[in-house]
Amino acid sequence: MEIIIQPSPEAATDIAARIIARQLREKPKSVIGLATGSTPLLLYRKLIEMNLDWSGVTTFNLDEYISLPREHPQTYHSFMRENLFRNINIAEENIHIPDGNAKDIPQFCMEYEQQIHASGGIDIQVLGIGTDGHIGFNEPTSSLASRTRIKTLTQQTRRDNARFFGSEEAVPHHVITMGIGTIMEARQNLLLAFGQNKARAIAEAVEGPITASNPATILQMHPVTKLCIDEPAAADLKRADYYRWVYTNKPDWQTF
Ligand code: PGA
Repeated sequence: MEIIIQPSPEAATDIAARIIARQLREKPKSVIGLATGSTPLLLYRKLIEMNLDWSGVTTFNLDEYISLPREHPQTYHSFMRENLFRNINIAEENIHIPDGNAKDIPQFCMEYEQQIHASGGIDIQVLGIGTDGHIGFNEPTSSLASRTRIKTLTQQTRRDNARFFGSEEAVPHHVITMGIGTIMEARQNLLLAFGQNKARAIAEAVEGPITASNPATILQMHPVTKLCIDEPAAADLKRADYYRWVYTNKPDWQTF
């Protein structure tokens, strides 16, 4: 894992945006995995400003709520259109987001996995992290080998997301999410986390034992995972000084 600690969400996001921009320039037909929530909002704003060419790019989103009408403002279909897709030149047919209204959910999930595979696999997967360590909507105790499937949200995640819905009762209970096994097959994972409320989940993910109780800990087994985090999210890391030293002393050829 490469832990990049920056003074602000802006500075951490700048680095993440440069990593994605380089990927798109080097491989115009890249496959990018996308995330939702408050964390990647700034990243999407920066990517729009960079005016990159998305015409050959394919995207797969991590997750979606089940049973909300697609036009509901809190579906991830709405989120992605509003915050990224309407502002870039991506082809509609290259966008993939789980269908929370699929009639046959297991069948849909199997096809989603097949589509990822048929696309050549995800080059960079953008990730946020829940306060409970979830990645995608893989809640604690998710199988570390899981594939795209239905999940039930924890009370904590429904509480965390109540701010988007106006009340906790309005947050759906069920979601479709890529599995942890699916995420682990991305060639690179790029996890962003900002704020003190993510500090414990980040410290466990980086320095704790690998456990399904914090699904993000499995990223310790991934060959190319970068964390772009701000100082408050890094507050509980025991080896933060080492990570800072590593980053500021990278050989030139390794810098972003
Ligand atoms: P947030 O959510 O970006 O809204 O904090 C992150 C997540 O739940 O993965």
